[in-house]
Amino acid sequence: MTYARITGTGGYLPENVMTNRDLEKIVDTTDQWIQERTGIEQRHIAVEGQTTVDLAEAASRKAIKAAGIDTQDIDLIIMATSTPDKIFPSSACILQARLDIHGCPAFDIQAVCTGFIYALTVAEKFIKSGSSKKALVVGSEVFSRILNWEDRGTCVLFGDGAGAVILESSDETGILSTHIHADGQYEDLLLVPCGIADDYDRVKAGRAFIEMKGNEVFKMAVNTLGRIVDETLAANQMMKSDIDWLVPHQANTRIIAATAKKLKMSMDQVVVTVNKHGNTSAASVPLALDVAVRDGRIKSNELLLLEAFGGGFTWGSVLLRF
Ligand code: ACO
Repeated sequence: MTYARITGTGGYLPENVMTNRDLEKIVDTTDQWIQERTGIEQRHIAVEGQTTVDLAEAASRKAIKAAGIDTQDIDLIIMATSTPDKIFPSSACILQARLDIHGCPAFDIQAVCTGFIYALTVAEKFIKSGSSKKALVVGSEVFSRILNWEDRGTCVLFGDGAGAVILESSDETGILSTHIHADGQYEDLLLVPCGIADDYDRVKAGRAFIEMKGNEVFKMAVNTLGRIVDETLAANQMMKSDIDWLVPHQANTRIIAATAKKLKMSMDQVVVTVNKHGNTSAASVPLALDVAVRDGRIKSNELLLLEAFGGGFTWGSVLLRF
């Protein structure tokens, strides 16, 4: 049987750090409020001119090195992002050129905070069907560019970063199942309400910003993530106690703790990076994975549950043996 197996991870965060104290100088907020409601202490913010593909390239090179593969062997590139460098070409194509890879399919996926779970799901299908042997899957974002720095309800939550994995065809167990969903009826709760074909004037005015009904998103996220955990375990006839590590989307420690509670997992088995990274949207899951792989917490052969919830709404999970 052919599996898709993660053989290398990489992450990159812009050097520029913004603390909660820095935010106190910009909006009416406090370090205490942000930490109590979200668990966030700081986030990394890209400097002017630093783009989503810049971050993605740095993370990708680390993942390629960790996997020990030749860049030229990559035969598929999928990039999850909601903050692409350009309208087109896709960020995946720009990344492909930067890596001096020519000819393999390269495309973007846009599923906001669930983007990396969607991208991993699609890459796994390519590998299982035999269309791809070595895929580069990246989540990269500069959400700082779509934040209204006058809106304390959103600007304190997000950060910039990129995470990447190499997914290879293998006889050894890797991804066991993937589960992705969407329900477009909740658009009003979390969106950037303008684009090329709708309210372009707002884009031209430089006011393409995230709008969110945080409280309602919070409740939906907790309930939906609880359901996706049940769905994933049932599909694999596994028990909660089988899972070694929860690698959740990093939006808020309270959302993460609620999912861990549902799984009856101790927080020691949960990878938390939101305190240092903020919510990096599509980059948050691969960044968290990379942190816990590199610091030695996640070891070979352990069972990992990756999950995310985000704008769309979209949500999903991946169960894998690392
Ligand atoms: N500093 C100080 N006070 C604030 C701030 C701030 N940064 N932001 C909001 N407040 C105030 C509000 O104005 C409100 O004041 P009021 O009671 O006088 O009206 C009070 O704090 C409570 O506001 P709520 O929105 O009810 O606070 P809540 O406890 O829900 O926390 C938060 C807000 C952190 C946004 C939370 O709802 C949340 O995390 N939601 C999930 C949203 C999210 O993470 N979205 C990202 C994309 S989706 C995803 O990744 C899951």
